[in-house]
Amino acid sequence: MIEKLDNKLIKEEITKNGYYILDGYLNNQDLDKIKKSLLKTLHYIKPDSETDLEKKYYQIKKYNPTLKGNWFDVITSDICILQYLYSPAIINFVKDYFNTEVVFSGRRHVNVFDDENNKLLPAHQETQQLAGDVLAIWCPIYDTNVNNGGLAIYENSHKNGYFKHSREKSRSGDKRWTGGYNGVDTDIIKRFKRIELEVKAGSAVLFHSKILHCSYPSKKKETLRIVITERYNPLQKIPFLKDENAEMNIPMEGVDYNKIKD
Ligand SMILES: [Fe+2]
Repeated sequence: MIEKLDNKLIKEEITKNGYYILDGYLNNQDLDKIKKSLLKTLHYIKPDSETDLEKKYYQIKKYNPTLKGNWFDVITSDICILQYLYSPAIINFVKDYFNTEVVFSGRRHVNVFDDENNKLLPAHQETQQLAGDVLAIWCPIYDTNVNNGGLAIYENSHKNGYFKHSREKSRSGDKRWTGGYNGVDTDIIKRFKRIELEVKAGSAVLFHSKILHCSYPSKKKETLRIVITERYNPLQKIPFLKDENAEMNIPMEGVDYNKIKD
């Protein structure tokens, strides 16, 4: 794991592009540790001699989809993974970026996308957090590319403030994870060039909540895309600590995010 970041450079890049790809944030040893931990948890469900995480995942999915789902629910609490979301280098950068001494965990998550492509998210900005503006980390443990799918961003979309988000049940007929994830209107999305990022295993995308982003699908069978993510919330623009009627997480609808001030 990288221990020191060039905070000034990364800050400039995020201001300019809305995101920055931190190459080689995790090294092969870190990636092996994470994969082994995930594999051991799958073996707890049904032990055998399989040593490949992708193969074991598909085996368990076939064996018992509900337990595969339960595995997905518990891995987000795997401390072996969490340590990489809260490394001194990253937290120091976030504090520096927002000029704050206090940072909160907004929503940590281990995303697992397989060849069913049924968990793809529509284009959105990062909302429903404690703070109005946040930084997110998106760190895949397998290479992301045209075969495996990955993260797409919309160029320069962070320069226009926050767009209105709404929960749509059946946007363009795609299969949806929750049946109603928040997204931005297609007319707005069309204004920006979509860039499908190819991020290597262990590299991390750091991005501002204002940049529009979405998933792009995997095209190859039996691939697995596992991504560790977190949203770092600074002690800034937190309505919950200023207004006794405010909800803890800022609602997606009915609030103009551009008007949240300290
Ligand atoms: Fe997101």
